[in-house]
Amino acid sequence: MDWKPDRKAKKAIYKQLAEYIENGIANGTFPPDKPLPSERYLAKELNVNRSTVVSAYDELESNGLIQRNRGSGTTVSKDIWGITKKRIPSWNRYIEAGSFLPNLPVTQRIRKEAVEHKLINLASGELSEDLFPLDSLRQITASRSFIGSLGYDHPQGNLILRETITKHVKEFRRIESDPSSILITSGAQQALHLVVQCLLKPGDAVALEDPSYNYNLPIFKSAGIKPYFLPVDKDGINPDELITLHKKHRIKMIFLNPSFQNPTGTLLHQRQRKAILEISSEHGIPVVEDDPYSLTSFTGEEVTTLKSMDIHGNVLYISSLSKIVASGLRIGWIIGLLLPSPNDLKLTVLPVQNLTIIMSVYNSKHFDIYNYGERKRRLP
Ligand SMILES: Cc1ncc(COP(=O)(O)O)c(C=O)c1O
Repeated sequence: MDWKPDRKAKKAIYKQLAEYIENGIANGTFPPDKPLPSERYLAKELNVNRSTVVSAYDELESNGLIQRNRGSGTTVSKDIWGITKKRIPSWNRYIEAGSFLPNLPVTQRIRKEAVEHKLINLASGELSEDLFPLDSLRQITASRSFIGSLGYDHPQGNLILRETITKHVKEFRRIESDPSSILITSGAQQALHLVVQCLLKPGDAVALEDPSYNYNLPIFKSAGIKPYFLPVDKDGINPDELITLHKKHRIKMIFLNPSFQNPTGTLLHQRQRKAILEISSEHGIPVVEDDPYSLTSFTGEEVTTLKSMDIHGNVLYISSLSKIVASGLRIGWIIGLLLPSPNDLKLTVLPVQNLTIIMSVYNSKHFDIYNYGERKRRLP
């Protein structure tokens, strides 16, 4: 312990010690929920009487800063927020008590191990780093100046970006849309989150693929949504099982990742796609198509999106730039004809990174190169 009492000071040693611990609580030296040094240890370390330490702890206890627990020593009080301006709250307790659940322990472990041991995390479906269009981005930023506005943009996201996405999804995914039916999000992950938060309520039942993109699960559980699972085989889910689930649980929405499903890599068979859309309109079950991967085919084959087959407007389409340009851009979108106005959704779109760069990527040849040309070239 570096701190020592000032024996020449007028202030009593127990007061100095109490102040030192109080400051340590405020600056995080003594975090909430962690045991404080024992009376005996402090007395020895500081070369003071044990009664001096007892007096310091008495004072801190009477101020509500610490608690003494019989048998398990002394700890910083668990909820000290608001006692004085200086003190730090017990953030861990807030996190534990909050409604958003952490990722599953296995997911947390995979992430940790992947970083520590430089492993490839296949769960995140991330592009290989050498596929990130670094040179293109460098060229674009060097050759163009920023023309965007830095103020609050349209609540659905920048109009030029939405117009660009409208053109892109028409050309590459055969989806007819309009900038007014597009909402820009911070990746597909946030899009999924918004759909769950804004369009579902606690207790609603949803159908999910099993296995499915495992990060989704905390989103559903945290919102009190009941997930029911549809097994994925080589052709995707079985539409008859959706009807069975709906009869039993009144499914409010079905979440599908029909193209190159994460983690199985399967393509939902065309027959199943048609059947699901029929069930969706017959039973009034909206489909959320989570489609980050349909443009990642190694062979360049065109994959039909569910949204392009949706004539009744039952499909909310989610995608992003993560798997075709770079995940760090955090650009995603939701397309849906029946999307309520942003005011009804009560959401503010998170600021997206330099839109000019993103639009340039889309508008330039690089976008296409990174979809097909580059991938094909790398195939053995
Ligand atoms: C099926 C699926 N949906 C959504 C996401 C989230 O992607 P984004 O980076 O756009 O948030 C992923 C990421 O791995 C994914 O595999």
